[in-house]
Amino acid sequence: MAGTQHAQWSSRWAFIMAAVGSAVGLGNIWKFPYEAGEGGGGAFVILYLIFVFVIGAPCLIAELSLGRRGQKSPVNTMKSIATEEGKSTMWGLLGWSGIIGAFIIISFYSLVGGWVLAYIVKAAMGFGGFDAAQSTETFLNFIADPVQPIIAHFIFMAITVSIVARGVQGGLEKAVTVLMPALFAILVMLMIYSGITGDFAAAIDFLFRPNFHALTGDKILNALGLSFFSLSLAMGSIMTYGSYLPKDVNIPRSAITIAGADSAVALMAGLAIFPIVFAYGLNPGGGGGLVFMTLPIAFGQMPMGGVIGPLFFALLAVAAVTSSISLLEPGVSYIEERTGWSRKKVTAIIGFSAFLLGTLSSFGQPGNLLGDLQFFGSMTIMDVKDYLTNNIIMPLGAMFMMIFVGWFVSRKAMMEELAIEDKSFRVWYFLVRFICPVAIFAVFANIIYDTIIQPMLG
Ligand code: PFF
Repeated sequence: MAGTQHAQWSSRWAFIMAAVGSAVGLGNIWKFPYEAGEGGGGAFVILYLIFVFVIGAPCLIAELSLGRRGQKSPVNTMKSIATEEGKSTMWGLLGWSGIIGAFIIISFYSLVGGWVLAYIVKAAMGFGGFDAAQSTETFLNFIADPVQPIIAHFIFMAITVSIVARGVQGGLEKAVTVLMPALFAILVMLMIYSGITGDFAAAIDFLFRPNFHALTGDKILNALGLSFFSLSLAMGSIMTYGSYLPKDVNIPRSAITIAGADSAVALMAGLAIFPIVFAYGLNPGGGGGLVFMTLPIAFGQMPMGGVIGPLFFALLAVAAVTSSISLLEPGVSYIEERTGWSRKKVTAIIGFSAFLLGTLSSFGQPGNLLGDLQFFGSMTIMDVKDYLTNNIIMPLGAMFMMIFVGWFVSRKAMMEELAIEDKSFRVWYFLVRFICPVAIFAVFANIIYDTIIQPMLG
């Protein structure tokens, strides 16, 4: 048995930085602005915040407390708590679903991380005079290339592996305590720059004035799905980070801090991006291309674009690295526990396997080697992985985890683990037993109805 199961964060601060690092990622800076853009701005933002605090935060508390109680990798944490509670060890499957989900996510997350690294270089070389057509062509040509994105993906994964291989305190903790303050500093700088040079009033109006007409059913589901993805829930990451948590750290208070910081970064990213988008007359609803195809047009025209552009992509890269380490950690902790192999060896093996799986997502991009391969109508390989993790593994995993905590773990044990006053405990317990599973199930059922049942019925 290798030593990770007793590894611990050296302080509450280190844990908060790691958990915020996991939560803040491509979800906040890449996905949130474009989903808010497509969802009509303010209405989507308000709903997203409600989901984060009413549904996401209670789940975060539940997952962290399972991790801390179990003190092992997600599979063995679930098994040992189930055994202690006299319940079936089949609950260990929930640990598995997290580990597998995290492995699938990191395989394409790291590819997009690679795109971001490549865009730091492209932005530093300048997007001088780019119009919409050139910017689109540059991105599409890049992702259609069989070699360049793979190299970038490899570099991104190598960075992730080199951090995780050094262990909890020597690797993760050292990285996040430097990178997260840096991320925050860059974000504030970009926001100030955007506020001064861009159309800040239009951005505020767009992000905060609710237009409930744009908020259709699928956008509501997007908001809930994104709130879960953004808080890193149900993928074993938070459970693993919880297992390194000292007993004296207050979990509910930490969870509120993490959810607050995560939402703040999403909003700040919106306030850094949209003033520029509006000042240059660009389309805020540019979808996944907002960051890679829309913003470069502005970087090519703005004063100091050669500095602001690379800085923006560096921000994304930092956010992505601190999340990808949390995606690699659950699998590493499990295999290490299981085999007793050295952490370096385990990390390298899992990282390289995820890299290989990720190459398929790259080859499956339009125009690339497997670009013609389409699944279920028009899905690329990356879409399939995203669908499987975000729409199936994550909601089902989260729902069963809440059912486990709310109905199968003794109330007394949860009260002891959380150590909060009775009234707050009752609110949390009610949310976890009733509201969270029902809300998550509603989302899941809707997704399945929209994407599987309705097309079958024609
Ligand atoms: N929360 C990360 C983001 O918003 O980009 C992504 C993520 C990390 C999802 C870790 C799931 C996870 F377990």
